[in-house]
Amino acid sequence: MRILVIGGDGYLGWPTALHLSQRGHEVAILDNLVRRSYDHELGADTLIPIPSIHERVRLWHQLTGHHIQLYIGDLCDYTFFEPAFKGFAPDAVVHFGEQRSAPYSMIDRRHATYTQTNNVVGTLNLLYAIAEHAPDCHLVKLGTMGEYGTPNIDIEEGYITITHNGRTDTLPFPKQPGSFYHLSKVHDSHNIMFACRIWGIRATDLNQGVVYGVETDATNLDPRLLTRFDYDAVFGTALNRFIVQAVCGVPLTVYGQGGQTRGFLDIRDTLACVELALLNPADRGEFRVFNQFTEQFNVLQLAELVKHAAAAHGINAQIEHLENPRVEKESHYYNAKHQKLIDLGLQPHYLSDTLIDSVMHIVNNHKHLVRHDTIMPSVRWRATQSPTHS
Ligand SMILES: NC(=O)c1ccc[n+]([C@@H]2O[C@H](COP(=O)([O-])OP(=O)(O)OC[C@H]3O[C@@H](n4cnc5c(N)ncnc54)[C@H](O)[C@@H]3O)[C@@H](O)[C@H]2O)c1
Repeated sequence: MRILVIGGDGYLGWPTALHLSQRGHEVAILDNLVRRSYDHELGADTLIPIPSIHERVRLWHQLTGHHIQLYIGDLCDYTFFEPAFKGFAPDAVVHFGEQRSAPYSMIDRRHATYTQTNNVVGTLNLLYAIAEHAPDCHLVKLGTMGEYGTPNIDIEEGYITITHNGRTDTLPFPKQPGSFYHLSKVHDSHNIMFACRIWGIRATDLNQGVVYGVETDATNLDPRLLTRFDYDAVFGTALNRFIVQAVCGVPLTVYGQGGQTRGFLDIRDTLACVELALLNPADRGEFRVFNQFTEQFNVLQLAELVKHAAAAHGINAQIEHLENPRVEKESHYYNAKHQKLIDLGLQPHYLSDTLIDSVMHIVNNHKHLVRHDTIMPSVRWRATQSPTHS
């Protein structure tokens, strides 16, 4: 297959591009490298240093003989994107290329409008390009489990059958997202569903949980191929932050009571899920939704898991509860279905001491690079003024 990976310089896009290239597909990466400039803006950085995208692709070619084509530019700029899309003529597109941090989208009005413009306009451009130039092309779009929020009923995979006043229909599952970023994903889902209906294109929305881990078969070929590792309060996940805090000997900072429950998955399973979606495409006109995660944890459980793994290294990690900067339920029902990818053959890797250990080992090797001042939360959901980031 000819596969265009949009956002291929990012945490997930890079190892996905390598994985698909390793499997013999013709892969191109399209990215405007904006993720690197968020770091410059915030004074943060990936803990694992990553070479430029040009160097990474060159190295991949030297090591494996596989060529990955590069398109450096903005998906939101149709004068750049349309010729790039037509030139590569993909059979499938994997779309990772969005601003993906909830706190970043909540900094202030400018960051909220940037996030929604970047994500919604980018996806619209992609939908138009597919409809106009490659109507058979399969869109595999990264959504998020955060689109659903935390309803007090089981979360279905995309759709729910409702009987109301004696009549029954199958409708999109209600969405109650918790940030302007998550809302951008909901807007995307609606736009993609509409495009499938009116133009007959084929799309899979992967409502993904929080991803952990850094190593994959392809990136393990050379340390310079490793993907980025974010631990700062804006782009880092709770698990990454806890691991860095444990290694640095400072308390693990749990927001509020820590009862916030979410779906999680190993980065190797992200690659497997994307590949399964590509190999089993949606039908023409079908808008398919898969919930892409393998296990549920709450934030306090994650802290306890890291504390336990750290103890094996003689580290006595302490857990500290911080005032929650977000507006979210800290104790709630959560039971989300995640069967469709298993039915397609996904064999999950579960979160284990061994995995946490391997990440701790990598973090320990880069401990001297940790920027301690980026770990504490600086973005508050309720803030009406935003003096820290203009
Ligand atoms: N990382 C997770 O745990 C997670 C969980 C659920 C969903 N997702 C989704 O998966 C996708 C990838 O996540 P990630 O963690 O790899 O993010 P990331 O920020 O590391 O990567 C995103 C990439 O997209 C690029 N990009 C952004 N806007 C672009 C534009 N307008 N034009 C071209 N390129 C653009 C960035 O430069 C970056 O390289 C995102 O859509 C995210 O919402 C991620």
